Amino acid sequence: MEKQRQGKKRHLVVVPAPLQGHLTPMLQLASILHSKGFSITIAHTLFNSPDPSNHPNFQFLPFSDGISHQATDSISSHNIPSLVSTLAANCVSPFRQLLLHFTSENNIACIIYDGFMYFVESVAQQLCLPTLLLRTTSLTNVMAYHYIHRILAQGCLPLQDESVVPELEPLRFKDLPTFNFTNSDVLQNQLNIVQRGIKSSVGVIFNTADCLESQRVDELRQIHQVPIFPIGPFHSMAPDSCSSFLEQDYSCMTWLNEQAPRSVVYVSLGSIVTWEEKELTEMAHGLANSKQRFLWVVRGGRGISVEEWVKSLAEEVREAIEERGCLVRWAPQKEVLAHVAVGGFWSHCGWNSTLESLYEGKPVICQACFGDQRVNSRLVSHVWKVGVEWYCDDVVMDRREVEKAVKTLLADQQMWERAQELKRQLRQAVTQGGSSHEALLHLVDHILSIS
Ligand code: UDX
Repeated sequence: MEKQRQGKKRHLVVVPAPLQGHLTPMLQLASILHSKGFSITIAHTLFNSPDPSNHPNFQFLPFSDGISHQATDSISSHNIPSLVSTLAANCVSPFRQLLLHFTSENNIACIIYDGFMYFVESVAQQLCLPTLLLRTTSLTNVMAYHYIHRILAQGCLPLQDESVVPELEPLRFKDLPTFNFTNSDVLQNQLNIVQRGIKSSVGVIFNTADCLESQRVDELRQIHQVPIFPIGPFHSMAPDSCSSFLEQDYSCMTWLNEQAPRSVVYVSLGSIVTWEEKELTEMAHGLANSKQRFLWVVRGGRGISVEEWVKSLAEEVREAIEERGCLVRWAPQKEVLAHVAVGGFWSHCGWNSTLESLYEGKPVICQACFGDQRVNSRLVSHVWKVGVEWYCDDVVMDRREVEKAVKTLLADQQMWERAQELKRQLRQAVTQGGSSHEALLHLVDHILSIS
């Protein structure tokens, strides 16, 4: 059977969204499917385009997006919805041309596209090509979309309060991923798109595993009656896939090698969240006062020069950074999390970071900021119980809180043990006979059967 799966070489066109947290899992999925015998063409925007030299097995086809290249630095949580609609408005025609040309010379089995690139669906329909949807968030997050869609349709607005959403326990109303939509029509429109994408695809792929979200997998299957493929964590099955926009600074690995086991907190808030200078300063004081060791990704941004900012810190904080800290602009995160010296992760709970941390059995300080991050934070802290919850817009960044959270993260033995158990389950999921491994084989058979 495996031989038959490998033997049939078929062509997949893969359309990632041009954001770090989206491009990474899509390229990982493409690598996984390539290892199963599919040939892969990545159809991508010029904006934030992937580097073909990192993926010699794939063919790359750019299409124009009408987005200024300076826009890369200005991506923030506030303008993601408008980026997504701009892509939809600008890309239909170039993508259609590209696909028309490509299909005239190639036999495409299926198009796999990121949910943010929803314009792909209509083009594929015109050309009678089947699509598979990749949702790069947790499945619980998509269930939360479904819930918001339903209550908006009933004329209610999701409230931002502390009470628990009965269908989504332990999520509270304030955890729902309403993103930064201030206008319920825009939100409704986006949610309609999410629902339509699921219904019109021949299946939905999730970077998740049964041991994390099995109940939600069943619920989503029942609601939409489409095949759902939970086959993560992708990064564990595609270890060589590199898609970093920024250069990863490996000097921190040398520093980590000199630290004692479980003595370091790794601090990184992903590729989009940025901090005001005064918040960074509170973080620096808290980390220094905790007397723990720390590896901290400080990207700068918002006009902050990291060097100038460090110079402006109090002397005792600068000394602490020198003695116990290591600052980098961008780290090789997966390797960092796998390092024995790292005892915990202070994270914004982006879904990739969450999976990477869980896979390495590292507990988390959950500092969620926008979109799906609050959902993930709630899962980490209240469902899997491997994290300490902390919301950035609920708390003013305060050095005493930072100190407390960091100390708890590194000292809580029970949380550490639960994280080890989850790590064991996730590793089992991706090995032969495990749930993600089986789901992948089903996906391969499914693609072969529809094409
Ligand atoms: C965005 C959203 O913020 C997130 O909520 C959503 O789930 C995905 O899209 P991002 O902020 O980039 O993602 O976070 P995340 O999903 O965690 O992805 C970041 C990726 O960058 C991870 O794969 C991580 O390994 C990598 N990374 C991060 C590095 O390689 N080096 C770093 O220093 C920091």
